[in-house]
Amino acid sequence: MPEIDPWGDVEVGEYREKMEKFGIEPIEEIADKLPDHRYIRRGIIFGHRGMDEYLDALDDGEDVAMITGIMPSGMFHLGHKIVVDQVLMYQEMGADVTLTAADIEAHNTRGISLEDAREMVIEQYLTNYVALGLDLENVDFYFQSQAGNDHLARSKLFAKHLTRNEMDATYGEPSPGKIASALMQYADILRPQFPENGGPKPTVVPVGIDQDPHIRLTREVARKASQDFYKPASIYNKFMRGLQGGKMSSSDPKSYIALTDSVEEEKQKIDEAKTGGRDTLEEHREKGADVEEDMVFELLAFHLIEDDSELERIREEYESGEMLSGELKQIAKEKLEEFLLAHKERREDAREEVEQFVEENVESELV
Ligand code: TRP
Repeated sequence: MPEIDPWGDVEVGEYREKMEKFGIEPIEEIADKLPDHRYIRRGIIFGHRGMDEYLDALDDGEDVAMITGIMPSGMFHLGHKIVVDQVLMYQEMGADVTLTAADIEAHNTRGISLEDAREMVIEQYLTNYVALGLDLENVDFYFQSQAGNDHLARSKLFAKHLTRNEMDATYGEPSPGKIASALMQYADILRPQFPENGGPKPTVVPVGIDQDPHIRLTREVARKASQDFYKPASIYNKFMRGLQGGKMSSSDPKSYIALTDSVEEEKQKIDEAKTGGRDTLEEHREKGADVEEDMVFELLAFHLIEDDSELERIREEYESGEMLSGELKQIAKEKLEEFLLAHKERREDAREEVEQFVEENVESELV
């Protein structure tokens, strides 16, 4: 198996090693040119390819684009929110936003029917995007299975620029279903640059590092294609770990907080989360917590505390042993309760907008 498998189990950590091995640039050098976002201040966004060129173009007032996609695989949770927060950031920076619902990929690689994928995307994904603040008005949103003939034709034509060896080295002898999904994704990534969408133009793709194999090959396709494309830039975020430690997984509800979780569920999940607290009170007071191994602190840092000095104060108190795990959990529970209740209302408000959007933009007939 290749070191990074976009369809395998997500491997959390070892980011430095992978960056060096695959030539991903550290974010630090360009961080001051990006908006002041907690993901950047906290190293949650850690690396990129080709962002210098993208940011220069933005500086020069050129038209720029952002594209990303999510494969529908279950409940929409706080791990997914990391991508949506970034979409909002680029929308605010003035990028044209394209969003893919990867139903062909879900069908080919996860055995999810197009029908189930559609329902998940509308009920879970779109509704939560809008509730999180996405303005669908200026977004090119589409299902892969409805991408349009030119998009689908191009995804097949791109195959010409890649070899069997490249595919095997990148994906580890991919099945036909994976090859079809990968080709689809190259077209997704280059879509904002199609002539009918005003391309070519600099494009950024915010993703988890598991998607880097697709980015590498799309950059290769962009270079070789007869059409004029900018090589897409990419920017990588760390994965949130599961609440119990290890990976966050759509198939294990205890590992994530869904944006539709009730306050009771949320509190119970936090109660059962893995912390960096010590076994006895005495030991905790003496050594302090191991903050790096604390999933509740991770939750605060990724999503629940915007103010750096507030987060730092908590870190110091917790690391010194002054604050106990139970107290940390209490803070997280309250913040999350506030977020989930407000989000629930925003989701109710979003429903009508999403319904109308779907009516106007999604073909009702399935393939
Ligand atoms: N493969 C991505 C996932 O597993 C989904 C996806 C499809 C995507 N097309 C894309 C992501 C284009 C970024 C850009 O979630």
